[in-house]
Amino acid sequence: MATSASDVRETPFDMVGGATVVRQVVDLFYDLMDRDPAYAALRSLHAPDLALMRESLAGFLNAWLGGPRDWFTEHPGVCVMSAHAKIRVDRETADQWIDAMGRSIADSPIDPQLGARMIEALSGMASGMVRSPS
Ligand code: HEM
Repeated sequence: MATSASDVRETPFDMVGGATVVRQVVDLFYDLMDRDPAYAALRSLHAPDLALMRESLAGFLNAWLGGPRDWFTEHPGVCVMSAHAKIRVDRETADQWIDAMGRSIADSPIDPQLGARMIEALSGMASGMVRSPS
């Protein structure tokens, strides 16, 4: 059966503007985290050099949005939750992550309605990473 143009579903990855816009959001996010003292606790959990994190978060978000899945091929057996298993995420750092990501998406060219759905889903993911104090 022939495939018509209407059969080709646009993914959220296409709708945000692809890898260029994803990388823009990630760069805004780590720039904010690096410079704004409001995110000091979150920043202190990360290595001094954020270059690898910029690559990794952008790669994850590309796949999460339905784009290229290279991140999963490069991280066999890893999911984003298990990637945080050894990181002491508490409510404060999770809220800082959500706030910085919300600002970064809002400052990007992403359509506000789609951006709101993204931050809602990402907030749930970040909240799921919060570990109770042991
Ligand atoms: C809940 C708040 C969060 C905190 C405090 C946090 C913190 C961290 C830290 C400290 C690292 C390691 C960084 C380093 O090695 O320098 C990391 C890695 C990473 N985080 Fe988060 N994170 C949070 C939420 C998220 C969310 C919601 C996502 C996905 C949307 C995410 C995606 C990633 C990715 C892809 C990596 C790199 C994994 C790798 O390359 O092995 N993080 N995170």
